[in-house]
Amino acid sequence: MPTVAIIGAQWGDEGKGKITDYLAEQADAVVRFQGGNNAGHTIVIGDSVFKLHLLPSGVLREGKLAIIGNGVVVNIADMEEEIKQIEEAGLNVDGLRISDRAHLIMNYHKKLDGAEEIYRGKKSVGTTKKGIGPAYQDKIARYGFRAGDLLEPELIREKTKFMLPMKKDLMKLMGAESCQCTEEKFEERLIGWGEKYGKYICDTSVLINDMLDEGKKVLFEGAQGALLDIDHGTYPYVTSSSTVGGGICSGSGVAPNRIQKVVGCLKAYTTRVGEGPFVTELEGDEMIELQKKGGEFGVTTGRGRRCGWLDLVVAEHAARLCGFTSWAITKLDVLNDYDTVKVCIGYEIDGKVEKHFPASLAKLERAKPVYKEFPGWKSWADSESMAKSGMGALPENMVKYIKFIEEYTGIPADIISIGPKRTETIDRYGKWWN
Ligand code: IMP
Repeated sequence: MPTVAIIGAQWGDEGKGKITDYLAEQADAVVRFQGGNNAGHTIVIGDSVFKLHLLPSGVLREGKLAIIGNGVVVNIADMEEEIKQIEEAGLNVDGLRISDRAHLIMNYHKKLDGAEEIYRGKKSVGTTKKGIGPAYQDKIARYGFRAGDLLEPELIREKTKFMLPMKKDLMKLMGAESCQCTEEKFEERLIGWGEKYGKYICDTSVLINDMLDEGKKVLFEGAQGALLDIDHGTYPYVTSSSTVGGGICSGSGVAPNRIQKVVGCLKAYTTRVGEGPFVTELEGDEMIELQKKGGEFGVTTGRGRRCGWLDLVVAEHAARLCGFTSWAITKLDVLNDYDTVKVCIGYEIDGKVEKHFPASLAKLERAKPVYKEFPGWKSWADSESMAKSGMGALPENMVKYIKFIEEYTGIPADIISIGPKRTETIDRYGKWWN
């Protein structure tokens, strides 16, 4: 029952898409277990460029299952657009499976997401406005619509009767854009989705566990990153799902003892989008330089990402919460032209050096990064030929940087990524599915 999981070790956008795509090549199924279409990755196949937000990466590979687990929130209307994009390129989504327990994102969730942000004013989270938070709110409040409901017209009618008036009142109260949809239209739409997409809806926990019993290879694809976790992230500047290791189990219906290898995706520097504390954040020209070098602009919102040095206090926090067995260190090439690169190894808070990531936002605001400096690596040849030759071909100072991350965290850097292409990857481990 080989299983591999990949989870972002920072605030998302660590380059998980490329690593997932690489590991997915040999997998029989790729499973998403949390989040929704707030995520985003670009996949290039031949001349076609696909921008996916909800559908798991595996959906573009023939013969693989692309599974949306129960922990995901699904916007069917937006999913239709992604499917259209794929079908227009001459591919199909035959491998798609959606958990009957996955909750749905409705239009009213999107509208309420925007309205909540306005209420928060200066304390806004900077959400993607995809309705993620309001959809999870309904799930916890025990009145969300689930994908399986789409197959039961009577249940849809029953729920619509109280949900739609309630949401309309709420939208009015919150000053959100009003919803003109009648109950009949709403029900019709949902029943229509059931007829169209019902063939993909099933008990994905049974499906995944059966696959594992048969010795099939299953890859779990995390979205966002550990520091955006609802419990362990920089609350309230987080997303509304469990992005850490435990989220795999609750979000896909797979027991903890079935999760074998957990790859932490760690970008060689740090970025975050939206608001919230960021101890190693750069300012002014330094920040713009790194943002440009790294092409740090969001796939989902197009927003420029905030950038700063690598933070190992963050990495330790993520590793402890997720049980990483390997690092995949990405975008090392972006740091190529620096004279000096810095790594944060502690936070100085009120005169004391803290090694663990604190819960208090006030402490994080006061925290000053304690840096270890490394000489940069300017001797860069061609990334593809370097990747082909392996670690020995990398600049000495880059190898020192990687080794320091390994020693500090006690986790091997099994995948090294030095460019966006698949051929710009060094796999030092190789036995992912043994
Ligand atoms: P939400 O997930 O749209 O509710 O947004 C909550 C926070 O998570 C905001 O700061 C977003 O910018 C951030 N966020 C959500 N999805 C991603 C992602 O895929 N990458 C990076 N940040 C994300």
